[in-house]
Amino acid sequence: MEIEHKNQNNNNFEDAIDIFEIDYIFENKPIKRTFDDTNLEDKQSLLENLKKKIFEISNCELKKNAKNLVFNDGDPKSQIMIVGEGPGQKEDEMGKPFVGDAGVLLNKMLEAIKIKRSKVYITNVVNYRPPDNRKPETSEINRYSIFLREHINIIDPKILILMGSTAMEALFGQTLRISKERGKWKELIVNQKTYRTILTFHPAYLLRQPDQKKYSWNDLKLIRKKIDELKISI
Ligand code: URA
Repeated sequence: MEIEHKNQNNNNFEDAIDIFEIDYIFENKPIKRTFDDTNLEDKQSLLENLKKKIFEISNCELKKNAKNLVFNDGDPKSQIMIVGEGPGQKEDEMGKPFVGDAGVLLNKMLEAIKIKRSKVYITNVVNYRPPDNRKPETSEINRYSIFLREHINIIDPKILILMGSTAMEALFGQTLRISKERGKWKELIVNQKTYRTILTFHPAYLLRQPDQKKYSWNDLKLIRKKIDELKISI
């Protein structure tokens, strides 16, 4: 029997070229492994791309009933990202998150810790208004959480603030309770990247339950402290 002698090293190299594309191996430009070095132009185009995907979603009860897609507000370069639940009537009309009563309270909450709304980045779990302002269903939350995860990766915030149980469910699942989990720093892993995250009550809930504002105030102070510790300019 004839034994075939192969040069193992060469063989492996040829296999590698077959498996990976040759342009990829010999690409001159550094490979972008995280979003850390994403510049604003790249971010804007990634955001446009994501918005287009959400605009093209089909078979969605929310989209069918809504007037506008509500995608974002604020500064895409911000190191602070806020996630709410979904648009209400005013947001649906204006195509912008948090412009109704809950938005007025959100602005006051941010001002209380010396943050200008224009300096943070704001989005929601679902991007179309649920009919009659109902809470998004779990299937809807799961469907939109795929977009939300991509959104988080694009903005790549140093601090992620999740407001309310819908945002909590979208990213941590259904097992947690906001009343127990709010006001604690957590690590959230999104596509292999870890985000410093805090859960807090939703402003709309605070409008219904003003006695809970004292807990939110504690959370806001924690957020301010972390901003100072991390020397985030805001
Ligand atoms: N509530 C939300 O969760 N998001 C908005 O944009 C408005 C109200």
